[in-house]
Amino acid sequence: MSLKCEGLSITLKLTMDKVKSGIEGLDTLLFGGFPKGRACLISGEPGTGKTLFSLQFLLEGLKNGEICTYITIDERPEHIVLDAQALGWDLTPYLDNGSLEIMDVTAYFSSPKIGDYEGINGAQIIEDIMAILKKRGVTRLAIDPVAPLVFSRNTAVQVVEYIRKLIFSLEDEGVCTTLLTSYVPVGSEKVSHHGIEEFAASGIILLRLVNLQNKYIRTIRARKMRGTRIELSEYSFEILPSRGLVLRNPI
Ligand SMILES: Nc1ncnc2c1ncn2[C@@H]1O[C@H](COP(=O)(O)OP(=O)(O)OP(=O)(O)O)[C@@H](O)[C@H]1O
Ligand SMILES: [Mg+2]
Repeated sequence: MSLKCEGLSITLKLTMDKVKSGIEGLDTLLFGGFPKGRACLISGEPGTGKTLFSLQFLLEGLKNGEICTYITIDERPEHIVLDAQALGWDLTPYLDNGSLEIMDVTAYFSSPKIGDYEGINGAQIIEDIMAILKKRGVTRLAIDPVAPLVFSRNTAVQVVEYIRKLIFSLEDEGVCTTLLTSYVPVGSEKVSHHGIEEFAASGIILLRLVNLQNKYIRTIRARKMRGTRIELSEYSFEILPSRGLVLRNPI
């Protein structure tokens, strides 16, 4: 279907393609998986499983011959590989054949002008990420976590503009499905670090550690997913060798 608007011609696709999450049991809650080409937030307190979730999502693509990029800021790439190995996931064949690239963008933040929007140039980071996605034909991307890409000295208006620009840029092509992880402070009801990411992202998955009868369990809940039905129930999940995150029962 084509839309014409003041000389602009826009082709609209009327069906939404879904991308399998790779998380056992989650795609049923998402009625097929993540909306293809969209950017979704994986949000949770420290240690709730955001990094493993992201890796599992990328592995699902890699097993099917997709090209994937993992952008890390908080963790060294070699630690990512080792931690995956501890769970029984061998990333090395994918790194060797080039289908997986782990990008450490910490260098962007080692500039003497750290925190200076004009100095480091947040727009440049977005341009660089987009160039890499296009050059490699990336179909799955994880940015883990997204918050440090937003410079803290920016004004609230700049933060809103920046996050919007980042997510719009990622979604404009409609080819690459992106997970942005977001940490929230322990005990907080917040969904993201800046409190803005959740509005711009197309979807939100919440990971929690919940105390039930004096025992902590891991839980997962789809909070929002634009353009598709979702089941809103919160499910318990486990982290198992080789299988990673595995959904169990509604709580
Ligand atoms: N090999 C493993 N086997 C079982 N459980 C594991 C294994 N590796 C990690 N875990 C568990 O998974 C939890 C979540 O790890 P993960 O690094 O994905 O959390 P995170 O939300 O990304 O944390 P952070 O906010 O610190 O980045 C760990 O705290 C640990 O309890
Ligand atoms: Mg992590």
